[in-house]
Formats: sequence, C-alpha cells, structure tokens
Amino acid sequence: MAGKDEIFDFLVKEISRILQSDGNPDGKLKSICRLLKNHVSYYNWVGFYLVDKERKKELVLGPFEGEFTEHTRIPFGRGICGQAAALKETFLAQDVSKQKNYLSCSANVKSEIVVPIFQKEMVIGEIDIDSHTLSPFTREDEAFLRRIAQMVSRIL
Ligand code: SME
Repeated sequence: MAGKDEIFDFLVKEISRILQSDGNPDGKLKSICRLLKNHVSYYNWVGFYLVDKERKKELVLGPFEGEFTEHTRIPFGRGICGQAAALKETFLAQDVSKQKNYLSCSANVKSEIVVPIFQKEMVIGEIDIDSHTLSPFTREDEAFLRRIAQMVSRIL
C-alpha cells in the first residue's frame, strides 16, 4: 500500500489539475472534497467553510462531501471551526470527546482537523476534515492540508 507521502503527492498533482481546469470555484472545491474523501481512508467528511462577505466574523458552509451537517453557519470562536478562524491557526483535535468548545455533526466522528485559508493574512475560509478514527492526523496531514489551503486560496 502506498504511504501517506505518496498519496499526498499524487493528490497535490490532481488538485493542481482541478484548479487549472475550466469551471467555477464551487465546482472545483466540490471536486477536491470528493478526491480527498475517496483517497484518504480516514478522511470521512471533507468540506470547506468560507467567511461570509457581509458578516465577516461568520463562516458559511461551502462545498462538502460526507454526511449532512446542521452547522451551516458558525460564528468565529465557536466550535473547532470558529476557533481556528479566530486564532488564525490550524486546530487539531485528535479526540473530539476532549474538546469543550466543539460542535458535533455526527456521533461517528472521533477526530477533526481544521486548516485556515488565508489571503493577505486574512482568514477567508478553511478546510475541515472529520475522521471516524482516533488520532489519525500527523504532521504530513497538516503540511498537506496547508499546501491545499494555499493552492485553493488563489481561486477564491
Ligand atoms: N465540528 C465542527 C463543526 C463542523 S462539522 O465538523 C462539519 C466544529 O466543532 O466547529
């Protein structure tokens, strides 16, 4: 079986191809969600939250792949998504049951990583991954998702 580095290298190339293709940003983000969910076994929900252009301290759910979530609008500071946006930092929760400020989407979710997307040091959105596995995320995932955030930032 291919290691994480090989899978992530392949996915970076595929994402680059998606971003350069014709189509609108929403369609591209949706394709990226599908790609990540289908190729990384422990990425069980993959989605983008984007900062509301009217209400700049709120995140709105964008394209995603996985179960329906009721959390379609999240104020900065609330939940893991809102904290990552407020702190302007990657938020890694290897065990969500230990998080006090957490918005549950599904009882199956055991861990989560949220990586902000920046434009000129402003958070404009984020990538959110939920996993049904405990502690699945490593530095490779963090580095990979930061790279994707940088790539995606150019089309938003
Ligand atoms: N768990 C997130 C909410 C979004 S869902 O994971 C899709 C949070 O605590 O912010």
